[in-house]
Amino acid sequence: MASSVKLCTVDTITYYKEAISQLNTVIEHSDTPIVQDDEIPMIELLKISQIKSVKRFTVINSPLYYDEDVTNYATVNGINIDLSETKYLAITKRHGKFKFEAVTDIRVPKNTIGLNSRQRKRDRLKLYHTYNVKPSVKQHSIVDLFDQKYSFRAKIGGEDKMFEKIFGEALLSRFYPKNFVQRTNMKHVKGILLYGVPGTGKTLIARTMSEILSVLPKVINGPEILSKMLGNSKAKIRQLFDEAKSDPDGNLHLLIFEEIDAVCKRRSGDEANVHDSVENNITSQLLCKMDGWHQLNNLLIIATINRPNAIDPALLRPGRLEIHIKIEPPNDEARLSIFDIYTKSLLQNNLLHHDVNLDRIIHQTQGWTGGTY
Ligand SMILES: Nc1ncnc2c1ncn2[C@@H]1O[C@H](COP(=O)(O)OP(=O)(O)OP(=O)(O)O)[C@@H](O)[C@H]1O
Ligand SMILES: [Mg+2]
Repeated sequence: MASSVKLCTVDTITYYKEAISQLNTVIEHSDTPIVQDDEIPMIELLKISQIKSVKRFTVINSPLYYDEDVTNYATVNGINIDLSETKYLAITKRHGKFKFEAVTDIRVPKNTIGLNSRQRKRDRLKLYHTYNVKPSVKQHSIVDLFDQKYSFRAKIGGEDKMFEKIFGEALLSRFYPKNFVQRTNMKHVKGILLYGVPGTGKTLIARTMSEILSVLPKVINGPEILSKMLGNSKAKIRQLFDEAKSDPDGNLHLLIFEEIDAVCKRRSGDEANVHDSVENNITSQLLCKMDGWHQLNNLLIIATINRPNAIDPALLRPGRLEIHIKIEPPNDEARLSIFDIYTKSLLQNNLLHHDVNLDRIIHQTQGWTGGTY
C-alpha cells in the first residue's frame, strides 16, 4: 500500500493521474472499503483519471444569436473549419454551457447564419455578440467537474487556468475521503499565495474557495491587525493556529490572510523603527507557527498580496505558502465572461438596452480590472 502521496506541481493532469493511480492501488489492496464521506463522489474523481490526454478544442469565432427569452441560441457555420464530424456545438462562454445543433451543410456560405432565415424569424433571433463556440466533444476537466457542483464560473469570470492550478495542485486532496487521506498519510498543501494587481479578484477567489471547501474562514486583514497586534502579537498568532490544533474532529480550518505584506514585509535589520520591529516580530512568530503547522493537516492559509516580492521570502518556502498563483488582469475573453456574469439577470429580464454593444465595451475596457474606476 502506498504510504504517502506526492503532491507534485508539474502538470495538473499528470499530478491528478498519479494521485488517482495511487488511490486505485489503495482501493485494490484495501480490506475495508473506502467510504465516500466527501462532497465530490469518488467515482467522478476516478472518471477523470481515465483522461488519456487533454484535447484542445478548435475554437470557432462566430456570431451568436439568441431568442428573446435568451433560451435558444444559434451560430453561423464555422469559418475554415471542418465540422463534418460534429453534431453539436457548445457555446463555451456564456451563462453555463449551451448545446445547439451544428449546421454543416456546405451550401451554407461562410459567415452566414446556420439557421435559415425562416427559422431565425420564427425564433426571433437577434445578434448579441460574437462568441467563441467549440465542437462539443466529451470533455472532462477537473474544473468542469467542480463547476458542475459549485457553479463558481457563475461568480468568477475568465479564471479557468487559475482554477485548474488551484484545484490540481492545492485543493484536490482536500476532497478525498478522510479515511483515505489518513491511511495514505497524505499531506495536504498548507498555504496558497494569490498575487496580482488590485481588483483582479483575489479576495473574491479566496472567499469562493472557502465556500467550495465548506468552511467559514477566519479573515485576517494585514493592515488592520498590525495596530491590534502591537505588544501581544505572540498570543494573537498562537490563537490563529490553536483552534485548528485543538479541533477534536480534525475539521478543516481556513485562514484568509488579506494583504499579508502589511505585516510580513521583507524583514529588515533595522529595529529602531517601532513598526519595523513589530512586523519583524510578527513575521518570525508566523514562521515559527507555520513550521509547527507541518503536523497540522487541517489548516489551510490563503494569503493575498499585490506584489510577491514585497513579502518576506521565508514565507514562500515549501511547507509554508507553497503554491503561488498569479492572478492576471482579465484579457478580452475573461472580461467578456465577467460582463456576462453581471449582465445575466438584465438579459434574462429583458432589461439590457438593445444598443448596449458588448464588443465595444470589451474593447474600451482593455487593461481594466474590477478595481478600475
Ligand atoms: N474574475 C472576476 N469575475 C467576477 N468579478 C470579478 C472578477 N475579478 C474581480 N471581480 C470583481 O471586482 C471587484 C474587485 O475584486 P477583488 O476585491 O476580489 O480584487 P482583489 O484582487 O482582492 O483586489 P485588491 O488587491 O485591491 O485587494 C469585486 O467586486 C469582484 O467581485
Ligand atoms: Mg483583496
